[in-house]
Amino acid sequence: MHPDCQEILFTEDQIAARVKELAAEINDCYKDKPVLLISILKGGFIFLADLCRQLTCDCRVEFMAVSSYGNRTESTGTVRVLHDMATNIEGLDVLLVEDILDSGISMRYIMELLSGRKPASLRLCTIFDKPDRRVQPIHADFCGFQIPDVFVIGYGLDYAEKYRNLPYLGVIKPECI
Ligand code: PRP
Repeated sequence: MHPDCQEILFTEDQIAARVKELAAEINDCYKDKPVLLISILKGGFIFLADLCRQLTCDCRVEFMAVSSYGNRTESTGTVRVLHDMATNIEGLDVLLVEDILDSGISMRYIMELLSGRKPASLRLCTIFDKPDRRVQPIHADFCGFQIPDVFVIGYGLDYAEKYRNLPYLGVIKPECI
């Protein structure tokens, strides 16, 4: 375990097993309908890479970069789109692929933005969900794990841009924040 981590919440194997289960749900949902997966960077990149390789439905991938935390542990409340996609999503079945739902502020903003572009459907898949912290009423259609209100790192999630590469989900030591 990384020395800045005090506990592992989910191991690499546990996450991989859950990703397979989520992929089965998503395959079943879309069947032979093409789906556009939109990864929300940066945090969503590892989950997208794992999830899409378990999908058998017809899928394409796109990326948006959105940030609302900066180097802090609390949402600034201001969502910034750092990179938008070139693809026109009108009439497409879209699945947002996110690493974590926390306050829900980022996802609320993204969903409102993308709804305005008139996709045929817009669903959300998150690997981690912290429901106790929710400020905006966002519900994930596909959710990997509910987690307690602790600051987590790894599997794409950072603190001040570090730790995204840890293959597990861990709790950061308070002295490292
Ligand atoms: C994190 C995370 C989610 C969002 C969730 O992104 O990746 O997108 O915060 O938090 P919320 O539900 O409270 O809005 P962040 O802004 O840290 O950018 P990053 O993905 O580049 O780390």
